[in-house]
Amino acid sequence: MKVIVDTDAGIDDAIALLMTLAHPAAEVLAVTTVMGNVSLEQATHNTGVILDVAAAPDIPIFKGCARPLLQCVPPDAVSVHGADGLGGAGRPTTTRVPYSEPAGLALARLAREHPGQITLVTLGPLTNVALAIQLDADFLVNLGQLVIMGGSIDGRGNTTPAAEFNFLVDPEAAAFVFAACHRARIEAVLVSWETTLAHPIPLTSWDSLITGAAPVAQFVQQMTGHVKRTWRSSNVFWPDPLAVAVALAPEIIGEQERRLVAVEPARVASRGHTIVDYRFGPESAPNARLVRKVDGVKFQNLLQQAVQQGG
Ligand code: BDR
Ligand code: CA
Repeated sequence: MKVIVDTDAGIDDAIALLMTLAHPAAEVLAVTTVMGNVSLEQATHNTGVILDVAAAPDIPIFKGCARPLLQCVPPDAVSVHGADGLGGAGRPTTTRVPYSEPAGLALARLAREHPGQITLVTLGPLTNVALAIQLDADFLVNLGQLVIMGGSIDGRGNTTPAAEFNFLVDPEAAAFVFAACHRARIEAVLVSWETTLAHPIPLTSWDSLITGAAPVAQFVQQMTGHVKRTWRSSNVFWPDPLAVAVALAPEIIGEQERRLVAVEPARVASRGHTIVDYRFGPESAPNARLVRKVDGVKFQNLLQQAVQQGG
C-alpha cells in the first residue's frame, strides 16, 4: 500500500509515523508537514528526527503550510507536546533535508502519478490537503483513500468545548475539504477525538509495550515520560496512531457509520465544531465514514510492532 503521512509532528504523530514505517505492507512515498502542534519549521525538523530514529530509508519530506488558510498567527500545542513537540525527546540535528517542492504541489503530483493507489493519512490541520484540492481539481479522485484524524463527532471538543484541535487550528481548511469530498462523492475515513477516547490504553499496559534499549523504544520511553508528567492520567490516548492503524489495517475496524460531515468556520464560540448530519435523504449523502470502534488488541499489537522495530 502506497502511503503518504501529513503531520504536525507532535508526540502521537511520532508514534503514528513509527507505526507506518514499521508496517510491512506500507510503502511510505513521502511525509508532508504542516504547522499545528508546533511551527512548520519544528514539525519538519521533528519529521527528520523521527525518520532518523527509525533508521528509515531516504523518504522525501515536503514542507507545507506555515499558517492556516486565513489566519496570520499559527496556534500551537506545545503545552501538551512540549517545547520541541516531542516531549523533550527531540534531537538538535537531523540528516534529512526537506525537498524544495511545497507539500500541496507534491501531494497533487504524487496522487496524479499513482492514480487510485495512495492512502493519505492526515494527522494535523487540513491546510495542505485543502491546497492540494485547489491546485488540482482531480486530487481527491486521484487519491485511493483519505484517512483523517480530527473532529469531535459527538460534540466533545478537546481544545474548546466545541472543537477538536486539528479542526480548530484551520476550520476553513477542514470545512473546505469535507465540502469537496461531498461534491466529489468521496467518503473520507474519519478518526475523531471521541474514537480516541473510546480506546484508552492503561499506562501499565503501555509501559510493558515499550520496554527495551533499541533507539526507537528509548525515544518512545522519553516521550512517554513527558506524557506521564503533563497529562496526569492513568491511561494514554493515541489519536494519530489510531488513524494510521485504521489506514494500514482496516480489518481492525469494528464499528463505523457513513455520514455527511461539515465543519463550522465562523468566528463564533463553535468555530471548528464538527457537524454530523444524522438525517437521511438526498441532501445528507455521506462524505465520511466515522470510525467508532476498533479491535483494541490488534491496535496494541501494531503499536508494539512500531516501538520494537530495530530492537
Ligand atoms: C490531535 O491534536 C494534536 O495535538 C494531536 O497530535 C492529534 O493530531 C488530537 O486532537
Ligand atoms: Ca497530530
